[in-house]
Amino acid sequence: MNTAATKEKVFYLTTPIYYVNDVPHIGHAYTTIAADVMCRYKRMQGFDVFFLTGTDEHGQKIQQSAAAKGLTAQELADRTVLNFKDLWKALNIANDDFIRTTEERHEKTVQAIFKKLLDQGDIYKGTYEGWYCVPCETYVPESSIGDEKICPDCKRPLQVMQEESYFFRASKYTDRLLEYYENNLKAIMPRARYNEIVSFLRSGVHDQSISRTTLTWGIPVPGDDRHVVYVWFDALINYATACGYIDDPEKFRKYWPHVHHLMGKDIIRFHCVIWPIMLLALGVTPPVTVFAHGWWTVEGEKMSKSKGNVVDPFKMVELYGRDPFRYFLLREVPFGLDGDFSEAALVGRINSDLANDLGNLLNRTLQMIESYCGGVVPAAERQGPLEEEIEKFALATLQDVDDRMADFAYDEALKTIWAFIRRGNKYIDETMPWKLGKEGASEDLNRALNTLYRILHLSALLIAPFMPDTAVTFWHQLGYDDDPQARGLAGFDWAAVTSGQKVRKGAVLFPRIDMAVWRKEKDARDGAKKAQTPPVASLPEDDDSKHEPLIDIDAFSTLELRVARILGASEIEGSKKLYKIAIDLGYEKRTIVSGLKEYRSPEELVGKRIVVVTNLKPAIIRGVESNGMLLTAGDGKEGRLALLTPDEDVPLGSRVR
Ligand code: MSP
Repeated sequence: MNTAATKEKVFYLTTPIYYVNDVPHIGHAYTTIAADVMCRYKRMQGFDVFFLTGTDEHGQKIQQSAAAKGLTAQELADRTVLNFKDLWKALNIANDDFIRTTEERHEKTVQAIFKKLLDQGDIYKGTYEGWYCVPCETYVPESSIGDEKICPDCKRPLQVMQEESYFFRASKYTDRLLEYYENNLKAIMPRARYNEIVSFLRSGVHDQSISRTTLTWGIPVPGDDRHVVYVWFDALINYATACGYIDDPEKFRKYWPHVHHLMGKDIIRFHCVIWPIMLLALGVTPPVTVFAHGWWTVEGEKMSKSKGNVVDPFKMVELYGRDPFRYFLLREVPFGLDGDFSEAALVGRINSDLANDLGNLLNRTLQMIESYCGGVVPAAERQGPLEEEIEKFALATLQDVDDRMADFAYDEALKTIWAFIRRGNKYIDETMPWKLGKEGASEDLNRALNTLYRILHLSALLIAPFMPDTAVTFWHQLGYDDDPQARGLAGFDWAAVTSGQKVRKGAVLFPRIDMAVWRKEKDARDGAKKAQTPPVASLPEDDDSKHEPLIDIDAFSTLELRVARILGASEIEGSKKLYKIAIDLGYEKRTIVSGLKEYRSPEELVGKRIVVVTNLKPAIIRGVESNGMLLTAGDGKEGRLALLTPDEDVPLGSRVR
């Protein structure tokens, strides 16, 4: 069915919907730029395109992150969504729709799908039982637990927990999905990911828990609003919502058979196992292709907030311009592989590929058309063998780019386009128009300049999806007033590129960046950035804290604060101030040393619920190892010191945020 369908010129492409607990970074920009380039390309090939992006706004992550910022989840979503929308403007993303999972159209669709699957018996109510990590507040899959039953993340003991949950009968459809993949070898790309998913499916898929009673920030399960729909079950449905699954069946019929999903490699199990099974259960065809791209590191290191090396796409646009940034991301690394981002590499590509190859071809050609032909493109009387070869090269380039784009091989498509551009520069050296000009060989000169003009004409069209602004400027300099993207690539005819246009040589497209100057500026920027990094988790010691530098929420969240109960307090030999205090965190017992002796007797302390910093490095104090610190308030003068205690009976080990 897919093979026949893809012959129609309809194309539906999605990005993941991004979580609103984070500011947009290079990873988000990467997928969205890739999707934008593909959609622009398809439009130029005459496809009817629907391009969707959006935000994922429900779930525990968002609820917690909002609470930590003192906002409601909706407020956090309403703020962060603007960052994403602004970034898409800054990057020139031409999406057709933007979906937010808190929109009514989406809630309606999720509930309708849930109800349909429930009614047909593919969703059932059961009890979820699993190994739960209290500190991490998450179930840990059996497959990642060893004999010692500790959490793979925080290394603390796990507990068996039970919770009522709705389940999706995913196991029922595994064989049908495997059959679909066996018949559709491009349904998951690249091939390594296809193999990974197929072998995962062969090992069997469990029914999936798809509701939660432990949080409220989600879409209520229809008819049972003690439960909210699990965030991934909710999020995946966005692709159907925006395509009109409930609201506009005609739209859905038109675009759905042509749906392609782009995303990073970390989330393909959801997209290549759960989502297609949901679709099969609904009687809908799985996606034509799910393409998983690689991950970016930054100058050889994993990108992380704590390292302070997160690449801000707004900053890159401001420093280098959006087209070079778009070009670099897609040219530097094959789309399915991991890559390393460095500004030095970006500058290198600006100087070599953009300034040298592309910029020079345009400038040299327009300069010669001005010098020798008064700025008017000359007609060529007949083609020579060299021109015939160039024409063949041009047509082969078009075909090759089309083949590469069909496989999401952006880097290969760009290499092909640049081989053509370089062929143009070589043609200048071969024909030496300045020599022909001097010799008065006007027929040869006209033929060379006319051929160069055709090369530029086609180059402008080919780069348009990747660098839309550049293509417009380029096109304008070629003497055209229309939009190169509207001109399109479908039915491109080399012979139909005519003469007579008045070229308009303008500003240099990509001025070369002086590496020495750039290095100095970059070092200054890096130095300034280091100076701004807040001190991590330095707790104010007294009231002078009012004058401490402000920290951001990330610095605060490096602190792990938890509720504990005091089991006992005993004296430490030779110390007038300190107690050795035994505490219970629910998931473990610890000893801490604290200077409470002047303020409380051991009897007053036993049984008290307190707040403890649990991720302090252990310290030996008066020969006793202290693993944490309890929180107090007050200056301790005149025997006055308050222990911080929770005012509700929350479980031991609960995180304080
Ligand atoms: N909300 C889910 C997706 C739901 S789709 C129904 C989600 N959101 S996310 O905001 O955390 O991540 C979105 C995308 O960013 C993922 O595709 C992920 O692979 C990508 N990236 C995050 N860091 C990345 C890099 N360092 N490099 C490249 N892409 C990376 O997951």
